[in-house]
Amino acid sequence: MQDDHPLEESGQSKRSLDPCIVVIFGATGDLTAKKLMPALYNLKRESQLPTNFACVGFARRDKTHEDFRKEMKDAVSKHSRVKPIDDALFDTFEKQVFYHKSEFDDDAGYESLKNYLAELDTQLGTKGNRIFYLSTQPSFFQTIIEKLKQHGLIYDYSEKDEPFSRVIIEKPFGRDLKTAHELQDDLLQHLNECQIYRIDHYLGKETVQNLLVFRFGNSIFESLWNHKYIDHVQITVAEDIGIGTRGKFYEEQGLFRDIIQNHMIQLLTLVAMEPPVNLSATAVHDEKVKVLEAIRALTKEDFENNTVRGQYGEGFTNGEKSIGYRQEENVDDNSNIETYAALKLFIDNWRWDGVPFYLRGAKRLPKRTTEIAIMFKDHPGKLFREKNQPSEKNVLAIRIQPDEGISLKINCKVPGPQSPIQPVKMDFKYGSFFGLTPPDAYERLICDCIYGDRTLFAREDEVFHSWKLFTPLLEYWEKNPPKEFPNYACGTWGPKASDEMIAKDGRSWRLI
Ligand SMILES: NC(=O)c1ccc[n+]([C@@H]2O[C@H](COP(=O)([O-])OP(=O)(O)OC[C@H]3O[C@@H](n4cnc5c(N)ncnc54)[C@H](OP(=O)(O)O)[C@@H]3O)[C@@H](O)[C@H]2O)c1
Repeated sequence: MQDDHPLEESGQSKRSLDPCIVVIFGATGDLTAKKLMPALYNLKRESQLPTNFACVGFARRDKTHEDFRKEMKDAVSKHSRVKPIDDALFDTFEKQVFYHKSEFDDDAGYESLKNYLAELDTQLGTKGNRIFYLSTQPSFFQTIIEKLKQHGLIYDYSEKDEPFSRVIIEKPFGRDLKTAHELQDDLLQHLNECQIYRIDHYLGKETVQNLLVFRFGNSIFESLWNHKYIDHVQITVAEDIGIGTRGKFYEEQGLFRDIIQNHMIQLLTLVAMEPPVNLSATAVHDEKVKVLEAIRALTKEDFENNTVRGQYGEGFTNGEKSIGYRQEENVDDNSNIETYAALKLFIDNWRWDGVPFYLRGAKRLPKRTTEIAIMFKDHPGKLFREKNQPSEKNVLAIRIQPDEGISLKINCKVPGPQSPIQPVKMDFKYGSFFGLTPPDAYERLICDCIYGDRTLFAREDEVFHSWKLFTPLLEYWEKNPPKEFPNYACGTWGPKASDEMIAKDGRSWRLI
């Protein structure tokens, strides 16, 4: 395993694209079609795949290589970030794409997979290197890993790691602290921690990676980045869509497990962490874990007063009538699963003493947006207030998606003798400045796994700390079902209780 980040050592890249085969478990699923195959195609387009490469889709439906390639071409044409796709390039790419039919628990299927991969090694020079991407429901993780090991597809780990076998695990990693530990214990029976890549696709987003550069590559912000100047921080992950075809998944998980426990808590750690001593995976993970350790444990008082859950009822999204959560496919008519959650956290360390972090995540809000807003304290003195010229607080808004960029709200004098004050925005937009679409998160993460770089994957202790923090709340919610679900209409900004939660601190949610 290579622990060093590519930016380390004055930009000298130590990375090499080793030949390998990526086996996708769950290859006929939604994630493969929407994200994984388009990511592989775009990596090929940008010469970021090894020359000696193959991708093998593993699923239970009966189909030929040709059927699978055709389906993947349709999927890539529809979901690739660069359109239209290049037919000639796809023809070359698809020659490296194969299909293997098997049930996840069928020994014969693993034995034939082993033989097939060995054949591909001979044909394509992939040298026995393997990446197993578990794009399946979490209940299959243990079975698949066990079978892979049993049939010699996962190798014993050695420092040299040649040939390598790595496993990418989709979220969610467990559904509470206990199950996360159980899963980890199970994985460690067959894998070394260095072979485990826990994906949190938020970490692969350009804008999220830029958080480190923004914070630690610009000296002007660091001196302000603390409780002396920052009033509070708001992190919002809003989606305008409902749960669509993911009813079964949502009924098991809910929004908190889907978004807050992993993605949002990762964003929080990157905003709040101290500068790492270098950019190695270990140094970055260590700093993130220190933040997690410093988050104040939630008490019963917090469960009742500083957290809010909600579920959407019917309404209108973007002008169109939308059904409520309980009317969605595969959802119980009386479901108490949350599609909205908001909460307040404190980080009890020197830098963040007394600064609240407000988090809200939801489905079916008026727009899709992920944003981190650093809300600065008001300026001291009464200079402008005396003249009845209210100024607004400075806000640094980091837009993760869409319309990726960073804006700073500052107060400015309107030209003319009256000198009224008006807030204006200094706005940086990735798209217009760099003139390109940033790579999709999955491209970056699959590529990093081929390189053996785990910096942008979640480490086990990060996952455990997050579950340790939130499991008591999730248990409390389970024991105390909500009485008033659904409590917000599609296309609105969530339950009234959420506005009230932040309003009692004399603050309000940012209008986005
Ligand atoms: N979809 C997303 O947008 C998204 C986003 C982030 C993370 N994820 C995570 O990614 C993972 C996969 O999600 P998904 O939406 O792609 O799931 P999905 O659409 O339900 O696909 C599941 C896949 O597993 C296969 N499968 C199920 N049972 C099997 C069995 N017994 N033997 C062999 N194959 C079997 C299915 O094959 P059949 O088609 O033959 O049933 C299908 O290929 C989940 O952990 C999810 O949480 C998904």
